[in-house]
Order: sequence, then structure tokens, then C-alpha cells
Amino acid sequence: MADIRNIVILTGAGISAESGIDTFRDAGGLWEQHKVEDVATPEAFERDPDLVLRFYDKRREAIQTKQPNTAHKALARLDEEWARKPGHELLIVTQNVDDLHERAGAGRVLHMHGTHLNAWCTACDVRTPWNGPLIERPPCPACGTSALRPDVVWFGEMPYEMERIYSALREADLFVSIGTSGAVYPAAGFVQEARSMRIRTLELNLEASMGSRWFHESRHGPATEVVPQWVEEILGG
Ligand code: OAD
Ligand code: ZN
Repeated sequence: MADIRNIVILTGAGISAESGIDTFRDAGGLWEQHKVEDVATPEAFERDPDLVLRFYDKRREAIQTKQPNTAHKALARLDEEWARKPGHELLIVTQNVDDLHERAGAGRVLHMHGTHLNAWCTACDVRTPWNGPLIERPPCPACGTSALRPDVVWFGEMPYEMERIYSALREADLFVSIGTSGAVYPAAGFVQEARSMRIRTLELNLEASMGSRWFHESRHGPATEVVPQWVEEILGG
């Protein structure tokens, strides 16, 4: 792997599963407990804001009790080692709204589906770091209006940072997808995008995913095993 210089890594709920955060589509996952259209769309928020705010308040509270696992730590180590190599680039693009990559020490992380730890004011458009509940309608620290919503991307809304992601992909030699089912676009399309640019593609997932057939290579197993193994390999090679 000596010829790999620029890496883009996409992560999904599977990387945080062993930290105790529910995935969306596995048995017992979040979308089995709640209908997507009841809690994760702008229409749901308009129809029943209390239900939506309570759902995200519960998740925000839960993730703050969870810890990064060895997969997050291995990626943070890779990020750090890669930053020391002149002319080498690395970007972690996560669909996760938890902050476990950051808490593990990773520096270059984009949250394309937003983050639980921000509140977004629908009155003045300012985003504020936020770790408490929103159900009581606290005032926005910037404008004082009680119009805060979770800063997460709902179905029907545009994911964040797409230009930066596609420009990193264009420069990449390797695209790695970790713990994601490949069910939600545009992230699910990154692998085809990469393939069309002749970029090497690797999937690390518990089992075969909807997107597996698109990857040059697909390795199966729990993230806490396959991710540290791969990081060792790439740093050793
Ligand atoms: P999913 O729940 O769709 O998929 C999780 C994937 O992780 C599955 O392919 C599992 O096989 C795999 N997995 C489970 N446990 C694992 C483990 N211990 N190690 C490795 N892999 C494991 O979650 P995402 O693909 O992240 O979007 O979902 C994508 C988006 O759909 C989410 O960001 C969210 C959701 O609706 C929004 O809310 C906008
Ligand atoms: Zn405001």
C-alpha cells in the first residue's frame, strides 16, 4: 500500500455500534423502534415538534454516556500519523451524529448528517454547541428566540459539506467505507463515484451490505476488530 497518499473514509452507525449506540437498520435498530417519517423529516417536526424533540433529546443524552471504541481510536491514530506525512491527505466523512471520532482524537472529521451536539436556530440561522435538552424550548443564545432544533439532517434535507467531500474524493487514491448499510444517498453513492474515478475502494462492515458488490474488496467482521487490523496494515505497509 506504499502508493496510497490520499484517503477518504466514510463511516456509519456500525462503527459506533460496539460503543452501545443503536444503528438504524439492524434488528432492534432505531428505525424499527420509530418510523422515520414520524421523527426524522421536516414535516414530522412541523406536525409534532414535541415527539421529535423528545426523540433527539433522548439520543443526545444517551450518546454522552458512551465512549469511543478501538475502531474510533484506530482511525484517530491513522489521522494523526497521516498528518505527519508530507503530501498525504486524509478525511473522515461520518454520517453519524455522535462525537466519538472527535473524542477518540480524530482531527479531520466532517459530519455530513449534522451533529447531536449543536442546536440550530430556525429564526436567526445560527448554530450553537448544545448538550442539554431542547424540549423546554430554551431561547437561542444568539437572538433569544425559542426556535432551536437539532442540527441534524433530516430526510428530504441536503447533507452538509458535499462540495468538500466530492473535492476530497476527486483527490483520493483510496476510499474506505466502514459500518454503513449503503441504504442512504448521497453517501451510498460515494463508492460508485470513486469507482468512476478509478479510485481503489474497500468496505469494512459486519456483514455484506447493500453496497458490497460495488467495492473492490469487502472485509467482514466487527468494526473493533477489522478497523484496527486495517489501520495496522496501512501504517505498516
Ligand atoms: P445502518 O443502520 O443503515 O447500517 C449500519 C451498518 O453497520 C449495517 O450494514 C450493519 O451490518 C453494520 N454494523 C452493525 N454493527 C456493526 C459492527 N459492530 N461493526 C461493523 N459494522 C456493523 O446505518 P447507516 O448506514 O449509518 O441518516 O445509516 C445511514 C443513515 O441512515 C444515517 O446516517 C441516518 C439513517 O437514516 C439520517 O438520519 C439522515
Ligand atoms: Zn437565534
